[in-house]
Amino acid sequence: MSFSELKTVRTRLNRSELFVPGSKPELFEKAVSSNADVICIDLEDAVAPQDKDQAKKNIISALNDFDFGKKTISIRINGLDTTYCYRDVIDVMENSGERLDLIMIPKVGVPEDCYAIDMLVTQIENKIERNKKIGFELIVETSLGITNLDNIITGSKRIESLHFGYADYAASVRMRTTNIGGPNPDYVTLTDEIDGNREKHWNDLWHYPVSKMTTIGRAHGLRIIDGPFGDFSDPDGFIAHAKRTAILGCEGKWAIHPSQVDLANEVFTLPEAEVTKAREILKAMKSAQDSGAGAATLNGKLIDAASVRQAEQIITQTELIESQS
Ligand code: COA
Ligand code: MG
Repeated sequence: MSFSELKTVRTRLNRSELFVPGSKPELFEKAVSSNADVICIDLEDAVAPQDKDQAKKNIISALNDFDFGKKTISIRINGLDTTYCYRDVIDVMENSGERLDLIMIPKVGVPEDCYAIDMLVTQIENKIERNKKIGFELIVETSLGITNLDNIITGSKRIESLHFGYADYAASVRMRTTNIGGPNPDYVTLTDEIDGNREKHWNDLWHYPVSKMTTIGRAHGLRIIDGPFGDFSDPDGFIAHAKRTAILGCEGKWAIHPSQVDLANEVFTLPEAEVTKAREILKAMKSAQDSGAGAATLNGKLIDAASVRQAEQIITQTELIESQS
């Protein structure tokens, strides 16, 4: 381990994060009755310009009057390059008591983006003597955001999580695809001929940024959450995609439709077999260490101190799920 201690930010269950446009208050009830760990009410791209003010009013009244139960509640504000952003923060925070947990900041590009919102939030929290401190969720969804990520995270101590925004990222780096979070038939490898046949192997066009986000985000102790999968009529596609990002280190995924919530919860709840294996690794390594050995064999495979760290992550996440779901 490095001499620098790596602290994990506040733990929060974030397997599924259901998005609801702030302009559709009739959907709030359905969102609450879902199994989503987090509900994010949107003021940004799911809300048309002419509906922004009304959406904000809907959010304020819901945060005051609506029973969101124990769910974590977030709002996605408009970007810092708009004329809505500052009023989103001020109006919602000054008029909604203590219920809001998180603010999601889209299209972050430099640390000052986070610093600026932190400055506003801190002033308001102090002015209204708010007891609960707001946390930040950042969307990594531009070429600038992915390039400056390591620095961006130093912009505020409120940052809890990173989220990958597929559509905006694709637009920003000019990827030639319009399928939000999905595969692309042109992103393939054509194999050489084997026994007279050539095969097309589909590749994951999102691998690089998602992997970069998990690597950098974890270095700062943050939660890493996968973004949207646009085709909500394709549960198999959603599950396959979520499994890939789970393998890379994500611990949850957005749901843009209620039907995706249980799918996300299922993928991001560690399977019983994995938890059992983790416990077996810990047990086997304990006996190895008790007998003075640094490495051991479990089911014909090497395990060592790194396996213990992997297994401990699995157990810690499982305990979080058991305690909060
Ligand atoms: N939250 C809560 N309830 C939702 C919902 C959501 N995000 N999306 C749909 N529902 C409800 C519908 O009202 C409908 O309820 P009903 O059966 O009581 O009538 C039910 O779930 C089935 O919805 P369906 O008809 O399949 O979808 P739709 O055509 O009404 O809506 C979308 C499709 C994509 C427009 C809608 O899901 C949506 O607005 N999603 C969020 C988009 C968003 O916030 N994007 C920003 C982040 S990428
Ligand atoms: Mg976006």
